[in-house]
Amino acid sequence: MKIDPRHFEGFNRVLTGVVVPRPIAFVSTMSAAGQVNLSPYSFFNAVAYDPPTLVFSCSVYAAGWPDKKKDTLAHIQETGEFVVNVVVDDIAEAMNKTAAEFPTEVNEFEVVGLTPVPSELVRPPRVAESPVNMECRLNQVVPIGQGRRQHGLVIGEIVLLHIRDDIISGHRINHQKLRPTGRLAGNMYCHTDHVFELVRPVYRPGA
Ligand SMILES: Cc1cc2nc3c(=O)[nH]c(=O)nc-3n(C[C@H](O)[C@H](O)[C@H](O)COP(=O)(O)O)c2cc1C
Repeated sequence: MKIDPRHFEGFNRVLTGVVVPRPIAFVSTMSAAGQVNLSPYSFFNAVAYDPPTLVFSCSVYAAGWPDKKKDTLAHIQETGEFVVNVVVDDIAEAMNKTAAEFPTEVNEFEVVGLTPVPSELVRPPRVAESPVNMECRLNQVVPIGQGRRQHGLVIGEIVLLHIRDDIISGHRINHQKLRPTGRLAGNMYCHTDHVFELVRPVYRPGA
């Protein structure tokens, strides 16, 4: 079967079903007026080392509302700051609860009982229950698409990374302890505790 995305109703469900598993950015933001927000984004990845750069993509409009914009993107455009907290199995259920399209004045930390702790270089708080928090400053928002389906691709630089001490040894991250949650399609997720190793071959010219 071949699929032409332009003529396939609901192609988004196919796309998010085949680009898997995706990491989940649990993004905390604060509006200029001080309203805190926390929501998950799985169109997410790290894309450069220097400067250390993350991206995630946020649809501009909230589903189920006539014209409400998503708070995460609105706050980032207003302030240029955000924190990406890594979603791990222990907080997966709380993460999911924050994904309801709440009114702007709702602080999702309070709704799901997660603990905000102050960041050091940016105003949005970190999630205490997440073992990895990345304080970020906005590089740019790249608009993708138009109208109700428009997305903003948020490109941000990590200015400070917090990580729980027992998870890192030198440069090595212990994934058995980190237990990051993977997003599949729709309501499906995966654990990442079944891992294996592949040693990468080295090509030596002339050898
Ligand atoms: C696991 C998960 C991943 C999600 N990923 C995205 C995403 O990549 N982009 C997006 O626009 N919405 C995504 N959503 C939906 C948003 O979290 C949801 O629209 C949320 O209410 C936005 O909140 P905000 O208006 O407070 O930013 C995701 C939801 C879940 C549960």
